[in-house]
Amino acid sequence: MDAQENYQENYQGPQRVFSGMQPTGALHLGNYLGALTKFVDLQNTHECLFCIVDLHAVTVFQDPKLLASQTREIAAAYLAAGVDPAKAIIYPQSQVAAHTELAWFFNCIARVGWLSRMTQFKDKAGKNSERVSVGLYAYPVLQAADILAFKATHVPVGEDQKQHLELSRDIAQKFNNDFGVPGFFPLPEPLIKGPGARIMSLRDGTKKMSKSDPSDNSRINLTDTADMIAKKFRKARTDAGMVPDNMDELADRPEVKNLVGIYAALSGLKDQQVLAQFAGQGFGVFKPALADLAVDKLRPISTRLNDYLDNPGEVDKVLADGAQKAHEISAPIMADVRKVMGFWGA
Ligand code: TYM
Repeated sequence: MDAQENYQENYQGPQRVFSGMQPTGALHLGNYLGALTKFVDLQNTHECLFCIVDLHAVTVFQDPKLLASQTREIAAAYLAAGVDPAKAIIYPQSQVAAHTELAWFFNCIARVGWLSRMTQFKDKAGKNSERVSVGLYAYPVLQAADILAFKATHVPVGEDQKQHLELSRDIAQKFNNDFGVPGFFPLPEPLIKGPGARIMSLRDGTKKMSKSDPSDNSRINLTDTADMIAKKFRKARTDAGMVPDNMDELADRPEVKNLVGIYAALSGLKDQQVLAQFAGQGFGVFKPALADLAVDKLRPISTRLNDYLDNPGEVDKVLADGAQKAHEISAPIMADVRKVMGFWGA
């Protein structure tokens, strides 16, 4: 069946939100607009778990001297953006054993062919696919385990995660079918819609904004100063034209389209309203206005982020409390999974 037509398929349990970010460097505007702003909204309406996925990070080598502080930095960014530990659970993935245990079970459910189709693996591995870690190949299976160890029903992510979410649904569905337990796992629904789901590089409008782009000018980091933000937008690639008055004219101007989309996402306006405001103006007017808007939105976050980084003890307490709560939710689910699979002692 087409899982997308019926996400919940007999699932009767509570609605729950799960998402995660890798601690592999400072967060950028794409992470913020594609995911983090949604976390902040969802915590008011749903039970939420927001993980720092350090087990995903180590699918490529991470310096052991830096991993813990990188993890703390992402937690600090969640807090600085407005995720409230009184409302949502914030924790490091490696502290909750359910992730790795369920990932193993799911390794035995997922098919090699399914993983071979994952475009993100192909992009990351490139020509080197024989030499990357087994973990990088199995990465999307761990992602499915992250979500389903909590029977999460909704997953706020950027558009680049769409295929991984489809795989999570396929795994949930196959588990339910293989063991004859319809509705045991929900088929998790991606929450991708909305402005900001796909923010592109400032240097190349056909590539997504990414932590791993070698050019720092391709992205706005949450930690950038006002001057850096202004400089990066000034240098952002555009063309010799003007801002047009309708979106159709942006079809083959991806860089301009991206900047209009960023303005819209940051201001809460629709793309068309942004165009109405700037139509006929050159980029010498539009780019500084965009930079001012971005600085207004991001400066309070970077200030709070730095405050949290000056108080690592506070962040560590949030992480430790969150790990305990996450464990308490996942433990009975994992006990049921072991029973369903028929393990000794279950
Ligand atoms: P990661 O760490 O690459 O990115 C974190 C979140 O940011 C979104 N994102 C973007 N959104 C819009 N435009 C962009 N240019 C952009 N770049 C990144 C991502 O879609 C993501 O939502 N595999 C995940 C982490 C993960 C996860 C999970 C997510 C592991 N387990 C379970 C959800 C549920 C990843 O690498 O995200």
